[in-house]
Amino acid sequence: MKAIQLEQPKHFRRIEITEAPRPGPGEALLRVHRIGICGTDISGYLGKMPFFSYPRIPGHELGVEVLAVGADVTDVRAGDRCSVEPYINCGHCYSCRRGYTNCCETNQTLGVMCDGGMCERMILPARKLHRSEKLSFEQLALVETLAIGCHAVNRGEPKPTEHVLVIGAGPIGLSAIEFARLSGAKTIVMDMNEQRLAFVREKMRVPDTILARGDGKDLNQLVELTSGRLADVVVDATGSNRSMGNALSYCAFKGRLVYVGITQSEISFPHAPALHRRELDIRASRNALPDDFARIIGLIERGEIDTKPWITHHAAFDEMIDAFPSWTQPETGVIKAMVEVS
Ligand SMILES: NC(=O)c1ccc[n+]([C@@H]2O[C@H](COP(=O)([O-])OP(=O)(O)OC[C@H]3O[C@@H](n4cnc5c(N)ncnc54)[C@H](O)[C@@H]3O)[C@@H](O)[C@H]2O)c1
Ligand SMILES: [Zn+2]
Ligand SMILES: [Zn+2]
Repeated sequence: MKAIQLEQPKHFRRIEITEAPRPGPGEALLRVHRIGICGTDISGYLGKMPFFSYPRIPGHELGVEVLAVGADVTDVRAGDRCSVEPYINCGHCYSCRRGYTNCCETNQTLGVMCDGGMCERMILPARKLHRSEKLSFEQLALVETLAIGCHAVNRGEPKPTEHVLVIGAGPIGLSAIEFARLSGAKTIVMDMNEQRLAFVREKMRVPDTILARGDGKDLNQLVELTSGRLADVVVDATGSNRSMGNALSYCAFKGRLVYVGITQSEISFPHAPALHRRELDIRASRNALPDDFARIIGLIERGEIDTKPWITHHAAFDEMIDAFPSWTQPETGVIKAMVEVS
């Protein structure tokens, strides 16, 4: 069957791989219908993703159909449409034993550390499937991106009376905005790209945005928007170590700062005036939990999350390699590109 492999940075290749065998115990054979492309795929393509190894079949945001299941599988059956939780955890490390499957000590994310879903059919552990009778394959492929923002906001624990500042309005920041809004907290979004802030105001219906210019005016604007309190929860989704260090200055006293963006660089910030005096919590957010997938499917089914603004670009499987370089350019307005396999 056909598959697409990232042979090395900037070099995709159409390959033929052997047909997936019959599903064993605990497994399901799947037909891949839609593959969402995200920043992780783009960084892998550009050779900037530290966890990515080559050659690799990418694809971790998947909308799939179950074709067959192993004898002992009862949660899903042939014909079910599912979203895939792509974090393949070991099940027995210290994290897994406590239910923190999102940060398994030997986690293998599909399409990043092991081959993913950019192919026609694949076998996965059935426990990684989250079914829906209502969502389209495209919506199911979007669930994973939303799960990253869902988990990040959960880590910040916002209350309805509080203010949440999301820094960085790329796809990960946008997914955090959905859940900040749903928490009932007043949501404010900061980015240095005005086009992305316009998208937030017009498509995500969040009116309060701040253009980050690095000149101190952004802090003044935040003071105004929060009546002097600053943000109880700051979610940094930039991946910029400068932004991440500076983000402490936007936190209210007793605030929580969540790093969902990832940097390989060191982060520095003043201890006494910022972290200590305000008694801040700094929390990382990695991947997402199984319950996040179930919750998001319910939210989309009930219309509480509108997926329409999200999917901006499409390509058929055979057009993907030619289309991909344009998806690395934010100027094209790409939020989420979807590859149609069948
Ligand atoms: N926690 C996880 O499990 C997880 C999963 C997937 C991706 N990520 C990470 O999330 C981050 C964001 O991903 P994305 O796809 O949305 O990236 P992106 O590059 O599309 O978006 C980042 C946004 O941040 C803005 N930005 C950059 N520096 C800024 C600054 N100093 N001030 C204000 N805004 C600034 C950019 O203009 C851009 O709009 C990346 O670091 C990615 O690796 C984390
Ligand atoms: Zn992704
Ligand atoms: Zn584990």
